[in-house]
Amino acid sequence: MCGIVGMVGRPKVTSALLDGLRRLEYRGYDSAGVAVFQDGDFQIRRAQGKLNNLDKLLNDSPAEGQTGVGHTRWATHGAPSERNAHPHRIGDVVVVHNGIIENHLELKREALAQGAEFSSETDTEIVAHLVNREIQQGHGLLDSTRRALEKVRGAYAICVLSRKHPDELVVAKNASPLVIGVGEGENYVASDIPALLPYTRDIIFLEEGEMARITREKVELFTLSGETVNRRAKHIHQWSVNQAEKAGHKHFMIKEIHEQPRAVIDTLRGRLDPAGPRIYLDDVRMDQQTAERVRRAVIVACGTSYHAGLIGKFIIEELARLPVEVDVASEYRYRRPIVDRDMLFLAISQSGETADTHAALRESRKLGARVMSVCNVVDSSIARDSDDVLYTHAGPEISVASTKAFTTQIVALALVGLRLAELRDTISSDRYFHLTNQLLMLPGMMEDVLKHAGKVKDIAQKYMNARDFLYLGRGINYPVALEGALKLKEISYIHAEGYPAGEMKHGPIALIDDKMPVVVLATRNESYEKMLSNIQEVRSRGGKVIAIVTRGDQDVISMASDYFEIPAIDPLLEPLLTSLPMQLLAYHVADLKGTDVDQPRNLAKSVTVE
Ligand code: AGP
Repeated sequence: MCGIVGMVGRPKVTSALLDGLRRLEYRGYDSAGVAVFQDGDFQIRRAQGKLNNLDKLLNDSPAEGQTGVGHTRWATHGAPSERNAHPHRIGDVVVVHNGIIENHLELKREALAQGAEFSSETDTEIVAHLVNREIQQGHGLLDSTRRALEKVRGAYAICVLSRKHPDELVVAKNASPLVIGVGEGENYVASDIPALLPYTRDIIFLEEGEMARITREKVELFTLSGETVNRRAKHIHQWSVNQAEKAGHKHFMIKEIHEQPRAVIDTLRGRLDPAGPRIYLDDVRMDQQTAERVRRAVIVACGTSYHAGLIGKFIIEELARLPVEVDVASEYRYRRPIVDRDMLFLAISQSGETADTHAALRESRKLGARVMSVCNVVDSSIARDSDDVLYTHAGPEISVASTKAFTTQIVALALVGLRLAELRDTISSDRYFHLTNQLLMLPGMMEDVLKHAGKVKDIAQKYMNARDFLYLGRGINYPVALEGALKLKEISYIHAEGYPAGEMKHGPIALIDDKMPVVVLATRNESYEKMLSNIQEVRSRGGKVIAIVTRGDQDVISMASDYFEIPAIDPLLEPLLTSLPMQLLAYHVADLKGTDVDQPRNLAKSVTVE
């Protein structure tokens, strides 16, 4: 997730570009850059880190013009460094991009063979090469961009400029957001509306597979195959800048909850080929010999990432028939764990900076383990210290309470499980195809669950004043119960406990009375009948059962005080759906109580102290 802004015809464009980028910084802040057209050529300034660094650079080395683009980067391919910062320039062409070019390696190999030179590790630079090649053959900017994009597979919102066409911006969109702002004598483009609100509220929403030529006088829309598109600008009345950053949501947490289908698509992108369906994990270099040699895996993480690890254990053990231990990083590192060369150490961390997880990883690596990590932040400390990294492409997670990072971690672990199973020959082709198909269907199923979010709000309204909550799950849904309880306590400050349902009668049952809401994960899987008994045990002590059920399961619905339905999915992937109502319940209870949802008291997003 990166932020793009472009303007044509704006006097003193640089400060407006910086202002736009500041409003888009929530989309990433690994580096930033601008390109402005001045005296017949582009002036490009790029700086690693937050926008302030670019601001300082521009103070020392000003660049000014009337047409330009800016970019704030959330790294996906290549470290967050100056040379990987956008804009990328090749020959006459300057490009900024948000998204992932899936076939960039293949295209880059072809370009290298033809003598092209690359100065970054990004997936974007190839687009600049492709467009420049067309420009040099005499095509216009719009045509050159179209011809280049015919070769490209993946997600993109791009903005392209050419020295030969100084008063034009060409933009194109496929699966990444892009809006066009219509002004008077000046026009604009951006990843999101807030960047444009100081200049215009007349917005054209570009749709998938569309492109536009933007000059100071007009905006022309086309499909990628060249047909003209007629669409008028919409006037945006109601949004404040702050609301717009949250895409109209009240908090980042609820925005990030709703981003999960998109985050899963991005995490699968380029790794799960729907044609097979088949998994390609270029980023995990483990070969067959190593996969067969591994005797056990140890997953280490903290908090929500630890809960994802507990789910990963079920997935990897079942698919790859590899014993998996899961430990909290702060415990693991202080108990002299047994580490050997035949074990796979797997660290999970959204930030890639959590001190305990990082220290555990370093120690295990020193002792000879092969180290893999699942991280969201590219080139973070944990990622850098790993033999293999599988990035979750969830985009920046701003809310302290982790949501989209959690579900994309589970997706990444499912990919690891399937890949290990393939290498170790422990999965039948039927099962492989079934699970890969289910992963492809997952974003649609998540959308389906999120469509009914209002129902969870009603449940939250009913129970928001409870003093305690109990969450019960079995098997792969036990970690979901732990995660549901963690979400609720961290943002609503209500005491909540997650428990394996079978353990309830060994103690926690004493807590149950008519004031205790009990969230029960009672989907149709192999522990279904046992969960029914647990529900009866809670009911007969007056407890209020809030059941998460498989759609249409009247048996559980008739026993529950309240219920929420999820679509049927393979039990191994069920946490990817059952965790959504957990997140929504915590969110709505906290919001109704009026707590600081995105920045709850005493917590920090990234825990870099031990
Ligand atoms: C969960 O909502 C918390 N933000 C917290 O438990 C978090 O998952 C934990 O601190 C680990 O962070 P990491 O994934 O960045 O390592």
